[in-house]
Formats: sequence, C-alpha cells, structure tokens
Amino acid sequence: MTWERLHTRLDALAAQGRERQLHDWTADSEPGYVRTGGRRLLDLASNDYLGLSRQRWTPDTVHDLLAGDPDEPVVLDALTRFGAGAARLINGNHPVYGLLERDLARLKGREAALIFGSGVAANTGVIPALMGQGDAVFSDELNHASIIDGVRLSRAETQVFPHRDLGALERQLAASHAAHKLIVTDALFSMDGTLAALPELVALKKKYGAWLMVDEAHTGGVYGSGGAGLACAQGVSGEVDVLMGTLGKAYGSVGAYIAGDDVLIRYLLNAARSFIFTTGLPPVNVAVSLLNVRYAQGMDEERRRLHAHAARFRAALSAQGLDLAGSESQVVPVVLGAADLTLRRAEELRSRGYGVVAIRPPTVAPDSARLRFALSSVHRWEELEQCAADINDLSDDQGSRVGAERLKEEHGDVYSGSCESPCEKLP
Ligand SMILES: Cc1ncc(COP(=O)(O)O)c(C=O)c1O
Repeated sequence: MTWERLHTRLDALAAQGRERQLHDWTADSEPGYVRTGGRRLLDLASNDYLGLSRQRWTPDTVHDLLAGDPDEPVVLDALTRFGAGAARLINGNHPVYGLLERDLARLKGREAALIFGSGVAANTGVIPALMGQGDAVFSDELNHASIIDGVRLSRAETQVFPHRDLGALERQLAASHAAHKLIVTDALFSMDGTLAALPELVALKKKYGAWLMVDEAHTGGVYGSGGAGLACAQGVSGEVDVLMGTLGKAYGSVGAYIAGDDVLIRYLLNAARSFIFTTGLPPVNVAVSLLNVRYAQGMDEERRRLHAHAARFRAALSAQGLDLAGSESQVVPVVLGAADLTLRRAEELRSRGYGVVAIRPPTVAPDSARLRFALSSVHRWEELEQCAADINDLSDDQGSRVGAERLKEEHGDVYSGSCESPCEKLP
C-alpha cells in the first residue's frame, strides 16, 4: 500500500489553490494584536470577541472576582489541575464542572447544563443522541460543519432549507410525516455574520410539534444582557429545546455546553457518545471558563462598544459597494468571489498590518471566497476606520468589486443556492 491516493488528492487541492496550511500566530503584548510570519498585525481573525483569551487568572484576581464565594477553593484547586485523567463518568469529574454547569444554566435561565469537550463534540454527539432513523432534521443551509456532521451521524432524514428562509422551512415541516422533527440553526452564521430569527423559529417549532436546537457559538458572551446569548436577547431562551454554546470563542477558553430542561441533560449524560466516551476537559480550562463566563457578565459596556464598532465598520464597507453577505453582527465578511483574488487581498491587507484570513470553498459555497473580519471589543475605532480606508485603497483597482459583480452575474444570489457541505468529499 502506498500514499499515492493522498498525493493525488493533495495535488488536486493545491492545483485549485485550496490546500490548507498551518501558520503560527502568537499574542503580541498589546491587546488586539498578534504576531505571525515576523509581522505584528491587528488581530481580525480570532473569535476572541471580548479579548478574554488574554485574561490571566492568579489567586489574587480570582479572589477579587469571587470575593469570598464558597466556590473559591474548588476553582483555585481546579486552576492547578492540568488534566482530568479520565472520562467524567469514570473518575474525571472534578467538582468545578458542576459549578460551571450550574452557572451556565442560571445564565441561560434553564434547569441544567452539560459541558462537552468542544462545540464539534457537542453537535456531533447531541444530534445523534436525540434523532434517528424515521425522524427528520431541518437544517439551515449555512449551518456549521459540526451540525451537518451531527445530522449525518444521526441517520435521520435531512431537510436543508435555504438560508433563513422561514417560508421554505414551513413548507418542509408541513409536508413531513417524520415521527420526530428537529429544527437546528446557528444563532450567528459564522461565515456570513447573519443572525437567526429565533422567535419565528420558536413559533414554527410549536406549530409543527418539532424540537428547536440553537448553536450559540458566536453569540454567547456577545449578545443579551450579561452576554446570555441571542436567544435571551430575542426573549426566547426558555423556549429553545436544546441550547448549545461554546466556551472557546467570546469566553476565551475551550469547550462547549448544552443548556435545557433537566430531563434533556440527564438523558444526554447517558446517550451522547461524544460526552460518554472521552476524557474530560482539564479542570484548569473549566475553571478558566467559569471565571471568564462570570467576568463576561459584567462586560455590557464592552458589548455595546463592539456592536457599535461593528455597525460603523459595516457601514464604511457598504459605502464602498462591497458585498458583506448581509452581515448584521461583529462577524463581517467581504465576499470577493474568486479564491485567488481573496488570497491576494488577504496578503495585501496583512502587508498593511491587518491579520485577516481568506475563507475559501469548501468552507463557503463555490465562488463565494471572502475575507472574514471578526471584530473584538478590544479594537479601537481608529484602527477599524483605518482598516476600512485601506480596504478601499486596495479595491480602487476594481478587483474586489469586479469579483463580487462577476459572482452575481454568473450565479445570481449565491445564498439562495444550496451550499456544498464543508465536509464534501475530496476529489
Ligand atoms: C457555529 C459553530 N458551532 C460550533 C463550532 C465548533 O466549536 P468548537 O471550536 O468549540 O469545536 C464552531 C466553530 O467554529 C462554530 O462556528
């Protein structure tokens, strides 16, 4: 046996400019800046929306935050434990997990919560635990890869509806005779920056007797009072059956959780394979998550600043005639269309000091390659304003606009077509 097949596939990817490579990025001493390839760049690529990944916890700062809380000794102990040693259901269940689960359930206004090792583990474990053959899952076409994979693993019938098209979703729900139905959606679509209409989805799930699962990966910590998330901000947190969120984005740590009714959490503890058959997260990470989640509750001012900056940044780019894919959040894509043009633009922006990445198919639909700007509350408006001006400078040669316009001419609205899954088969 040789590796010929893999060489062929890699060559094909390289020929299409789609071979991925790793680059080192390290934190600069100034918040909001990173170092990569010998350059110091404004970090516009992280999902570190509140700058919490830089938070350093010491016994003193923990003490300041917890101020005599009875949980303090457990948290301090967890901060010294760098490995769980086993699955949580064996003997890897440090008491800090329960504290964080209790905090997350309270924050979301739900009965209980359960921590998973990552968002990918949560989505690929929970959907197959809830759904199976004879059931149907209704999934927005721009949902995250881990939701797509979770649905595939479940073996339920998959009904993909066009992005945020509630009419199409309702028609699918009405026509379905499946035993059980699950509607699943990202709260914030990570490559487009659009938001789900959760109250409308709640109304549909009630009308058709379906469950609703919402992935708050990019909205936890960022939306709602105390950072409770988009479902809270839209007033429907108690009505989402399966509320998923992650701890590795705005919360600056690692891991994910499901919040919901007590029975759901007890069931998942017994049925979600990605929870049962895996080593628990290191207690130190769980403690950092707990501290960051609590700290983030007091960051309403930072959240206001982030949303205000994002609105101004979007307005500045829209005024240049750029295609922002309908973004309405702190995630701002600039759709350029061709992968090579997008790579070139990303490199030009890096040479001007902006750490921005090119997002290419298969992560996004064919011919919709884009620059993705992820804003953070640590950015200053002057930095973002200058960035918008530099983008304008680059697109003066019409390259970007030609890219976006060609795309529209050739494909119409790319978001009404079906998006190839990020895990599409390699050639
Ligand atoms: C919407 C969404 N869900 C889930 C995940 C996966 O989360 P994690 O990085 O914790 O595995 C991501 C990560 O990018 C995401 O964007």
